Amino acid sequence: MRLRDTGLTAAELKAKVKKYHIETYERMDFVCDYAKGNYLYDQNGDAYMDFYGGVAVNSVGSCNDAVVKAVQEQTAQVMHTFNYPYTVPQAVLVEKICKASGMDKIIFQNSGAEANEAMIKMARKYGNDNFGPNKVEIITFYSSFHGRTGFAMTATGQPDSAIHKGFGQLPTGFKYAEYNNLDSVKAMIDDNTIAVMLEPVQGEGGVIPATDEFMKGLRALCDEKGIFMLMDEIQAGWNRCGTFMCYQSYGVQPDAVAMAKAMGGGMPIAACAATEKLASAFNPGAHGSTYAGNPVACAASVAVFDYMEEHKLGEYFMAELAKMPNVKLVRGRGLFVGVILEDGINAVEVKRTCVKDHLLVTAIGSNIIRMVPPLTISKEEADECVRRLSRCISVVAGK
Ligand SMILES: Cc1ncc(COP(=O)(O)O)c(C=O)c1O
Repeated sequence: MRLRDTGLTAAELKAKVKKYHIETYERMDFVCDYAKGNYLYDQNGDAYMDFYGGVAVNSVGSCNDAVVKAVQEQTAQVMHTFNYPYTVPQAVLVEKICKASGMDKIIFQNSGAEANEAMIKMARKYGNDNFGPNKVEIITFYSSFHGRTGFAMTATGQPDSAIHKGFGQLPTGFKYAEYNNLDSVKAMIDDNTIAVMLEPVQGEGGVIPATDEFMKGLRALCDEKGIFMLMDEIQAGWNRCGTFMCYQSYGVQPDAVAMAKAMGGGMPIAACAATEKLASAFNPGAHGSTYAGNPVACAASVAVFDYMEEHKLGEYFMAELAKMPNVKLVRGRGLFVGVILEDGINAVEVKRTCVKDHLLVTAIGSNIIRMVPPLTISKEEADECVRRLSRCISVVAGK
C-alpha cells in the first residue's frame, strides 16, 4: 500500500495516526512510503540511509529480492495451518538453525519478548520438574533489555524504569547482577538459582559487549554450579556480530538462545533453541502459540538464512566513526555499534538532526547513538554515514 493509493497527503496521514494509534514511540517525522535495500523512501521519493535497520531487523536490506520471492511463493501455497500438520518451510528451517547454532531443538515464536518468555519458561519448568518449585530463579543483569511481556520485562534489569514502573506486582524469581562482573554473579547464585541469562552485547543498555573473560567465566561458573546459561541474541544473532550467533565469536556455547529480529528479513518470526536436555522441559501443553512457526514467516527466514554472508565492515566502520570530533568512544561488535558522544551533546537531538540529513540512527539514553544497519551496506555507504553523522553531531554540539 502506497500513499498515492489513499488519496491522503503525508500531513493528513500523520494526523490520522496521531488521532487513532496509541503512540508509545517517538516517530521520525516522515512517511516511509516504500523501502529497498539500504534505503527508506519518503512521500516525495527522497532516500534516507538506513543505519538503524528497523532496529536490527533489516539485515539483508529492506524488501530483499530473495525474501520477497520466498514470501510471494509461499503465500500462494499455504499461509497458515497452526502447528498441527507438518509444513515444508518449518522443516527446512529447523534443521538449518539447529546445525548453524549448535543447538539440538528449536521452538518458534513471533517476537523477541516471546522468544525470551519461552526460554525463561523452559528453564523454570526444568528447575521445577527436576528439583522442586523453588528452583526457578534466574539471574539477569542491570541495564539489560529482554522485552515487554511479563517474565521478559521482569528479567529486564531496569527496575526503576518505565519498563517496570506502574504495572503493580511483577513475577518473582529474578535477581540482577552487574554486567561484566563475574564476582557479582557468583555472590548471587544460591540453591534456588536455575539459570543466568544475558545479552552478549547489551543493546538498549548502551551497546556494551560482554568481555571475553566474562563470557568464558560465566560458562565455566554455570557448569560448576550445574545451572543453565541462557543467551538473549534477539538483537545480536544472525551474523550481526560477525558469526551466525554472537556467542560463537566468544567460543562459548550456551544451553539455550533466543533469537528474533534479523531472522525474518522483515517478517515477524522468533525462536528459542536449546539443548536436548533443557528442551525436554517443554512437554505437550507446556508452551505454544497460534502463529509461531507460520509457513510464510519460515519461508522468509529460510531465504534470509541462505542469503546471508559474513560481513567484514564492522571494524572499519567503528575505526572511521572513532575519528569523528565530539565523540568520547565507539564500541560494539561487528555491525552492532554505539557512538558515545562527549558530555552535553544530546543524542536525541543528534538523531533528529540526522533524520533531516536523511540518515537514520537511534539514540539511547542521553548521549549514545546506536547503529545496527543492514549487513549489506557498502564501504562507500559506511563512509557517507560517517560524513553525515559527523556533520549532525557538530550542528548539535555547536562546534
Ligand atoms: C536483546 C533484546 N531482547 C529482547 C527484545 C524484545 O524483542 P521484541 O521487541 O521483538 O519483543 C529486544 C528488542 O529490542 C532486544 O533488543
